[in-house]
Amino acid sequence: MQLFSVRGLACTVTGAASGIGLAYAEVMAEHGARVTLMDLNAPRLQEAEQRLRSQGYEVRSECVDVTDREALYAAFDRSAAAYGGLDVLFANAGIDAGPGFLTPDNARNPEGALEALDERHWDAVIATNLTSVFTSLRAAVRHMKPRGKGSIVVTTSNVAIINEAIVGTPYMPAKAGAASLVRQAAMELARYGIRVNAIAPGPFATNIAGGRLRNPADREAFQVRVPMHRVADTDEIKPLALFLASNASSFVTGSQLVIDGGQMLGRVD
Ligand SMILES: NC(=O)c1ccc[n+]([C@@H]2O[C@H](COP(=O)([O-])OP(=O)(O)OC[C@H]3O[C@@H](n4cnc5c(N)ncnc54)[C@H](O)[C@@H]3O)[C@@H](O)[C@H]2O)c1
Repeated sequence: MQLFSVRGLACTVTGAASGIGLAYAEVMAEHGARVTLMDLNAPRLQEAEQRLRSQGYEVRSECVDVTDREALYAAFDRSAAAYGGLDVLFANAGIDAGPGFLTPDNARNPEGALEALDERHWDAVIATNLTSVFTSLRAAVRHMKPRGKGSIVVTTSNVAIINEAIVGTPYMPAKAGAASLVRQAAMELARYGIRVNAIAPGPFATNIAGGRLRNPADREAFQVRVPMHRVADTDEIKPLALFLASNASSFVTGSQLVIDGGQMLGRVD
């Protein structure tokens, strides 16, 4: 088999209407996979599906909220029925967690203080960024296990490994939990031919947090923390996605691949 080939594979991407998830969907479709795009943003989802179809790719979509368990299981079942199974899952949908306890210029931010955080917001971040990963893995495994193969990729974050003061506090425990779930599932599922890995991005210019990283002042606050002194373009995630989805990563499981311009190494002025 050709290295990095994903041709003919049935793939599902959650949070596929925008940003990193859209890049996963694009690279998989461009390389011959059949892709189900899942997202709750109906207009963006429709636009992405139509654009990829018009380019001749085999894609379909499911408008679904990943925090709605029953709806998510049903969407996975329809996708597996449409494409005769499931080979690859990108569990990617996620939301921002609001302001951190420091502002971008390193002042204390009362809005981000522990005692000021809105508990409903904590619940929403945990539900979307952690619990939905658990649900998506369960939904996928039901289709992968009987066929004895599959690759699951979860979008975590480099803040799953190192903490960040300018990011809202609920985000770090949610992503660290998702990273731990990746390792646990990798151990359990290796016997069934299913690999489970994480991609841990640093700052990427997407629509998260209202497109904050496209705003020059916010972008600068993030990029000063990155030795390469820039934020990433979503196209830069595509090679990692292809690597983890394909047999090129046949002995890689339980890993978290960091793509952050060196941010975890520490600030270099
Ligand atoms: N952009 C970054 O700097 C960055 C860094 C590290 C990790 N991440 C992670 O990457 C993933 C993708 O984020 P992005 O930056 O591409 O953001 P984005 O906002 O551009 O895309 C996220 C997509 O997920 C969808 N989504 C959100 N909640 C959903 C739900 N409940 N059900 C279904 N779909 C839902 C949104 O509608 C959106 O289309 C997230 O898990 C995020 O935490 C992003």
